[in-house]
Amino acid sequence: KVLILDFGSQYTQLIARRVRELNIYSEIYPYNKIPDQLESYNAVILSGSPVSVRSDEALHPDLSNIRGKKPILAVCYGAQYLAHFSGGEVSESNTREYGRANLAYIKEEEDFFENIHKGSQVWMSHSDTIKQLPEGGVLLASTEDVENAAFKIENEQTYAIQFHPEVYHSTDGHQLLHNFLIKIARVNQDWTPQSFVEETVDDLKAKLGNDKVVLGLSGGVDSSVAAMLLHKAIGKNLYCIFVNNGLLRKNEFEDVLHQYEGMGLNVKGVDASARFLDALAGKSEPEEKRKIIGRVFIEVFDDEAHSIQDVKWLAQGTIYPDVIESVSATGGPSATIKSHHNVGGLPDFMKLKVVEPLKSLFKDEVRRVGASMNMDSQLLGRHPFPGPGLAIRILGDLTREKVRILQEVDAIFINNLKSWNLYDKVWQAGAMLLPVNSVGVMGDERTYEKCVALRAVESTDGMTADWVNLPYEFLQKTSNEIINRVKGVNRVVYDISSKPPATIEWE
Ligand code: XMP
Repeated sequence: KVLILDFGSQYTQLIARRVRELNIYSEIYPYNKIPDQLESYNAVILSGSPVSVRSDEALHPDLSNIRGKKPILAVCYGAQYLAHFSGGEVSESNTREYGRANLAYIKEEEDFFENIHKGSQVWMSHSDTIKQLPEGGVLLASTEDVENAAFKIENEQTYAIQFHPEVYHSTDGHQLLHNFLIKIARVNQDWTPQSFVEETVDDLKAKLGNDKVVLGLSGGVDSSVAAMLLHKAIGKNLYCIFVNNGLLRKNEFEDVLHQYEGMGLNVKGVDASARFLDALAGKSEPEEKRKIIGRVFIEVFDDEAHSIQDVKWLAQGTIYPDVIESVSATGGPSATIKSHHNVGGLPDFMKLKVVEPLKSLFKDEVRRVGASMNMDSQLLGRHPFPGPGLAIRILGDLTREKVRILQEVDAIFINNLKSWNLYDKVWQAGAMLLPVNSVGVMGDERTYEKCVALRAVESTDGMTADWVNLPYEFLQKTSNEIINRVKGVNRVVYDISSKPPATIEWE
């Protein structure tokens, strides 16, 4: 397995993910908490960092148990660290070293660069530059602007690179990690979703013992997979709560509850529709609607959690991208666009310890883990669905009648996507009920009714998205069906906006 030492880079988890893509198990430790027992690690990767080796805050771990004893791959800060503290020289760079660059020189016949050729695109992100290699340093690659873009240390299996192999824009990053981990360090490729399940279940057993754990199920992939892992670890001590906020898809509450029961989960369905819809009555501002839903959810959940004696833990289906997004949404420099409420939603008064078994995984990995536990492929393949549900797809104020109309429209759209085999090709789809009426004609009658917008996007993480080019015949048939079957709707439009500048949801 691989030890990743984290110096605080925004990409550290991405390194772990890329290592997992090679079916190799890795563990991330802070740079200053290096484990004492190093025998079981076959290689060490040093991450990048936001700080400079030249500053007073420079992070300075003791690598004496690792240097020369284990294969090391030092990325960015890691590379500068090796240079700066071992007789080389690092100084502020006077050219821009961010973004795209190409390897203009590669030392020939190096295992490290096998199947990687001159011209290969790499991604840079640093403001310091290595002016002089450390003692024993051998230059391996350069870009146009950065001479010491890669080097190794003679008589050691120590490799250092200034660029980031873990980001997708480094086109041969995967190959480079492959070369280092498999050709040079000879690490076993035995990480599989099954082994993740086994390890996680063992960890959960050790951590939770006989404690009771409460978990809010949403019907989505993440909370469902988290529940299955916990169920395997602690069985009936896992108490699942599935809240109907009255804003779910048509029949979803009943169907999904049934499915959870079939999976053997100890789950309680709580129909709190009236409580949510009453609290939302007359409210039309998107952020206010979100906040009300977040607040009522916590109230309902807290009531239920209190009815479980001696519960000690709150489990959450947080996955890695949630962690990144909520960091920037709470206090980071980026503005809060929408207050996603599913992370950090733990009210102080609940005072439960938090357990998050999926925190290091990305969505596709969660799906793989779920599949390895034989979970239903339809459940695992479900599109993302926002916590506030249809409330943020009904623009403006909300009534029970509007919820009913949108549920009908949405059901036709989603069912048609499934029957046309388009559902799995789309990352997320749904319908929006617009706050306008428009004139139509049905039979010989004038109508003045609602307009709905259909939205289907492709994306990898929801951060950016593009609209899907659905076949005209599909749109034609779906539009017809909606207008003929859903009373109160006389017009259907299709949303052809990308994110950015639009967002996926309309509110
Ligand atoms: P936007 O609309 O911001 O959506 O482009 C990106 C992704 O996030 C989902 N989304 C939410 N999820 N609570 C959630 O749990 C929310 O308040 C919320 N708002 C948007 C959206 O469905 C898409 O997948």
